[in-house]
Amino acid sequence: MKNNGNASALGIDIGTSRICLARRNEEQFQFESQLNAFVHVPYSPITEGVLKKEKVPHTLRNGEIVVHGNESDKLAELLGLDIRRTMSRGMLNPSEPESLNMLREMIAAMVGEPQGKPKIAFTVPAAPIGASDSLTYHEETLKQVLNGMGYEAQPVNEGLAVVYAELEAQNFTGIGVSCGAGLCNVCLAYLAVPVISFSIPQAGDYIDSSAASVTGERANRIRLVKEESFHFNGHFAEKTHQVLGVYHDVLIRSLVEAMAESFSAAGKAARLNRPLPVMLSGGTSMPSGFRDRFEKILREHEFPVQVSDVLQAPEPLHSAAKGALTAALTSP
Ligand SMILES: Nc1ncnc2c1ncn2[C@@H]1O[C@H](COP(=O)(O)OP(=O)(O)OP(=O)(O)O)[C@@H](O)[C@H]1O
Ligand SMILES: [Mg+2]
Repeated sequence: MKNNGNASALGIDIGTSRICLARRNEEQFQFESQLNAFVHVPYSPITEGVLKKEKVPHTLRNGEIVVHGNESDKLAELLGLDIRRTMSRGMLNPSEPESLNMLREMIAAMVGEPQGKPKIAFTVPAAPIGASDSLTYHEETLKQVLNGMGYEAQPVNEGLAVVYAELEAQNFTGIGVSCGAGLCNVCLAYLAVPVISFSIPQAGDYIDSSAASVTGERANRIRLVKEESFHFNGHFAEKTHQVLGVYHDVLIRSLVEAMAESFSAAGKAARLNRPLPVMLSGGTSMPSGFRDRFEKILREHEFPVQVSDVLQAPEPLHSAAKGALTAALTSP
């Protein structure tokens, strides 16, 4: 795509579990990510001092320290506190009163003060199947937040961002899939034009909470096991791995079925009559064997579009941010 010389443009993927910022430094993409979570800890000048010294993102609020980003997870584990999240299922969390304030703090700490009025493209999920207008508030609010910081903000659909990031060699024609924490987002694009996009609410959080309800462990504990050691191999020595295997399969089946249904309902996809690649990205696509399992389930299913290859993004946690940056760099 043509780069319009927006040298200080940024791409930001604001996800349910993580926020990832992409910037361009000469020919290189640079990424920085923070957990989209926070925890309140009691105020003491010593704690405040060390947080500053260790450059741990935090803010002071009502006599307490609110630690946000990557350290919030460890601190919450240590102190036996529940971690709080600004988003749920891909959107601002309606049951977290501080969601907007905290998200603003976290984004500001990452993007910094702009010089001039640079462009920033931010990811937004596609509407969940059957719920078309639930996104307006989320999208408009994030736009206001970023514009308020001095940027010129534009939304970009998350699945389309994956296409921008990873399918340039295929002329931005194919199916971008981002399997995150709150949602799996899908976008079928033809020559960079989004044709069909949707999301489903089964993703990493669904796997963690479903597995937790079977094993009796905390969802956060399940998440750690999943991220450290889960892989698809058909034989599971540990109970937690076996349970995780079941829910990953449920997720992949739901995703393949939702893709088949949306593509045939739209009818347009069948008219493309050219095989399309599927590009898998997002943290939930990372366990080893995910791509193979996805392809096996897809090939077994009756599918309304021809699929050429099932591919895995080289850096699944950075794809959406990289695609958002592409959108910002090429915007007029
Ligand atoms: N190595 C890994 N193996 C398995 N799962 C992982 C791994 N790393 C991260 N995850 C899972 O991926 C999910 C986070 O992925 P990602 O950062 O793409 O989501 P997000 O963009 O924050 O969420 P969403 O797009 O749904 O709003 C979490 O559920 C996390 O547990
Ligand atoms: Mg995401």
